Amino acid sequence: MVQQIKNVAVIGSGLMGSGIAQVTAYAGFLVTLVDIKKEILEVALKKMEERVLKEAKEKFNGNEQSQRKFVQDVIQRIRITTDVESAVSNADLVIEAIVENLEIKQRLFQKVEAIAPSHCILATNTSSLKLSDIGKYLNRKSQFGGLHFFTPVPKMQLLEVVQTSDTSESTLEALKWFGNKIEKVVVICKDTPGFIVNRLLIPYMSESMALADRGVASIEDIDTAVKLGLHFPIGPFELADFIGLDIALSIQNGSREHYPEEYNKLPHSKMLEKLVSEGNLGRKTGKGFYDYRSKL
Ligand code: NAI
Repeated sequence: MVQQIKNVAVIGSGLMGSGIAQVTAYAGFLVTLVDIKKEILEVALKKMEERVLKEAKEKFNGNEQSQRKFVQDVIQRIRITTDVESAVSNADLVIEAIVENLEIKQRLFQKVEAIAPSHCILATNTSSLKLSDIGKYLNRKSQFGGLHFFTPVPKMQLLEVVQTSDTSESTLEALKWFGNKIEKVVVICKDTPGFIVNRLLIPYMSESMALADRGVASIEDIDTAVKLGLHFPIGPFELADFIGLDIALSIQNGSREHYPEEYNKLPHSKMLEKLVSEGNLGRKTGKGFYDYRSKL
């Protein structure tokens, strides 16, 4: 029988954590959302409320009473706190979505493990770090695994469930069960840098940018070639502008720094570095590989 999960603590209420808390509450779980400052949590809660209201409006077209009830039902399942101890002490599952820093994550998990009930499953949403590094100091390594979500969490269907060599079958089953309950399509991956999606994406983006850097083809033609030749919905430069060029650069640099043997052979994009140093970060600043300012 799959381990019961009712109470979920989500640590980190930024872009990912607030989305994870939202879909978890939506599926009927009780969620405690943790961050370092009350103001950050209040902003996250407000954003979640707005997103759920938008969904309620689509679901209950014109019926304001049903819309309000729907929003209330979801939001009342989310408690916010800056106190990790109170959040974790009765949790069945803890999902970590804090800053992408190995030492800070390691310290947090040690703290969480000391407080969490003995049956509690611990999961990280890291996108680029190895789970075996994050969980290095844990005693209950068999209860530790990965839940790698994609942004925007409420919209993206995919969930990568990651197992280390120590993750037990029952932990893996419980993580898969949870993923299905929150209506994600679950894929399983062993603990390797980048898991499935980013492991394919990082070299693909690097090689695309290297083609443009070398002047082999224009960014427009590379995007067109990928869309029409590979049936991808968007090209690599359109995708980079969408993700944000600062994030694309930090993924590129972070991957090399943490896993040189895996990623150091990939070409370094000069064009990407130049755009970021000029403050052109993609759609969010109006200009990146493409200029969006006339369309704003
Ligand atoms: P973010 O910067 O939006 O949010 C991180 C939050 O964690 C902040 O609100 C920060 O105040 C809080 N925080 C930092 N240290 C904390 C601590 N010790 N205790 C409690 N809260 C703490 O970051 P984002 O984008 O949500 O990323 C979070 C994690 O998810 C990272 O590990 C990232 O690699 C991963 N991830 C990010 C994706 C993305 O597209 N942004 C996609 C998939 C995974």
